[in-house]
Amino acid sequence: MIAVMKSLKTIAAARRWRKGLEKKVVLVPTMGALHHGHEALIRHARKLAGTDGEVVVSIFVNPTQFGPKEDFNAYPRPLAKDLAVCKRAGADAVFLPRVDEMYASDASVTVAESNLSETLCGRSRPGHFGGVCTVVAKLFLATQPTHAVFGEKDWQQLATLRRMVRDLNFPIAIEPFPTVREPDGLAASSRNAYLTPAERTLAPRIHAAMAEASKLKSPRAIMKSCTAAIGKIPGARIDYIEAVDASTLRSLSNRKTAGRLAVAVFLGKARLIDNIPLPSIP
Ligand code: PAJ
Repeated sequence: MIAVMKSLKTIAAARRWRKGLEKKVVLVPTMGALHHGHEALIRHARKLAGTDGEVVVSIFVNPTQFGPKEDFNAYPRPLAKDLAVCKRAGADAVFLPRVDEMYASDASVTVAESNLSETLCGRSRPGHFGGVCTVVAKLFLATQPTHAVFGEKDWQQLATLRRMVRDLNFPIAIEPFPTVREPDGLAASSRNAYLTPAERTLAPRIHAAMAEASKLKSPRAIMKSCTAAIGKIPGARIDYIEAVDASTLRSLSNRKTAGRLAVAVFLGKARLIDNIPLPSIP
């Protein structure tokens, strides 16, 4: 029998599909424009679900997580290509709600996280993580997964969503997946498509600077070295470069606990984010 990937366009359709499934259901939430990083997440979900379980990928460009001056309208939406990626990576179903299906025009209830989402990207993108928490809570309620896969590429998002699941008691296991990179080290991202060819050749220097700096010991020296190296990339504008505690996301003062070196850098029209581990030193 040839398996057909189900296309679920409404919340009601997603609930009908979910009803009666007494097995693992693994959700991979995305905004589409799927690249090989997303594809690796879907393949990981397929492994987690096993032959018996179900994998559902949501594709929804969520307006509430974009600021008024951000790229919501310009965000790429190559649906046919995305569906082909989902299918070849082993998805059983895709959830493709419209904006008016997900949000009533006078919606007035949201989910807010008030600690982890205040630092790093939360400072330069006010409201962003509220939008992410709200939509992910809604995607959870529509598809009712047993597991959900998120990339470490968006470390702060992962930490914030783990906190939401803990604090709202969602019966869902969050499964992290390591950052997928291009061969030259640049983290795969839908926003890399905004880079000009010249910017694209410069972009890997961000990860190279991070990797080099992470060899140093003190968080302060790491941040200083990384800032100096990224500052030398022509046209790069630093949003933040911070060594933070991997769990609390607060400034890392020493290497006794696991840390993360997190950066956000504007290069031309693209705002690129990346993070790497700063393992604790015994
Ligand atoms: P999006 O940017 O499409 O990413 C979807 C998922 O893919 C996220 O979990 C993200 O961390 C992961 N991902 C993206 N690039 C990756 C890479 N290079 N390596 C590993 N994982 C990667 O993140 C979102 O969408 C949205 O905020 C969403 C959670 C769907 C809510 O709207």
